[in-house]
Amino acid sequence: MRSVSRISEARAVLAQRRQQGRRIGLVPTMGNIHAGHLALLERCREECDYSVVTIFVNPLQFGPREDFSDYPRTLQRDREVLSGHGCDLLLHPSTEEVYGKSPELSTRVHVPELSERYCGASRPGHFDGVTTVVARLLNFAQPDKAYFGLKDYQQFLLVRRLVADLCMTTGIVGVETVREADGLAMSSRNGYLSESERESAPKLYRGLRGIADKIAEGERDYPLIASSGRERLAAAGFEVDYLDICNAHTLRKATAEDSELIILAAGYLGNTRLIDNLHLAIDPVPAA
Ligand code: PAF
Repeated sequence: MRSVSRISEARAVLAQRRQQGRRIGLVPTMGNIHAGHLALLERCREECDYSVVTIFVNPLQFGPREDFSDYPRTLQRDREVLSGHGCDLLLHPSTEEVYGKSPELSTRVHVPELSERYCGASRPGHFDGVTTVVARLLNFAQPDKAYFGLKDYQQFLLVRRLVADLCMTTGIVGVETVREADGLAMSSRNGYLSESERESAPKLYRGLRGIADKIAEGERDYPLIASSGRERLAAAGFEVDYLDICNAHTLRKATAEDSELIILAAGYLGNTRLIDNLHLAIDPVPAA
């Protein structure tokens, strides 16, 4: 595996590979590589001939009171893990390399409306940071395909929208969430949990499963199901940020006519914010 910090170096390697007719796959990450990232890499390797992973803790997507400075930075270990899992090129640029000397003055990418709901409402500016850095990474690498985890479902929808709206040609692939044995979605932030918080954490996914079961049994009063889901999550020790049942494409609140739903939830255990979601397809009630 080649490991570079200069974007110009990565671009030169990728231009050569493209000339050789190789299909290039990109896996953008913020490092602290875990099994969830490795699932993205594995899918990338199945579908492409040359796999690029980026590690960049993007300051633009963290709010002023968020964990940018504490975010786990484990480059040496990540390098070994990625190299052992068939990554061809690791790009780990500095902030200056990505944004120049004045990140706050650089061009932003904003996706209206979709970026303002749910995580966007709780973390103002977060998704502008994500879409800005993803647009840059896609332009640097110009991959055939790029891989994103479906745990960050809203992020996945935003990236798909940004690529369509900016006429980019990269295919955006969503990869199923990888879970611990007890159902907790893999995330770098799980490492912040205390022992007792870690015990409570799987209740987030259990709550989503409970809601999915009710819907599968035919319940369709989504506001009521969501509000009892929020109550149960609060009783399990979460400070609930949101829990809602949405149309899986628009993230608008689901109606009886919707056939593809996404149950979205976010909540805090202590200072740690966890998010999760569950996708489900149902028979819609025909409009009268
Ligand atoms: O999902 C992440 O790790 C980040 O939001 C991403 C897509 C790498 C952009 O910084």
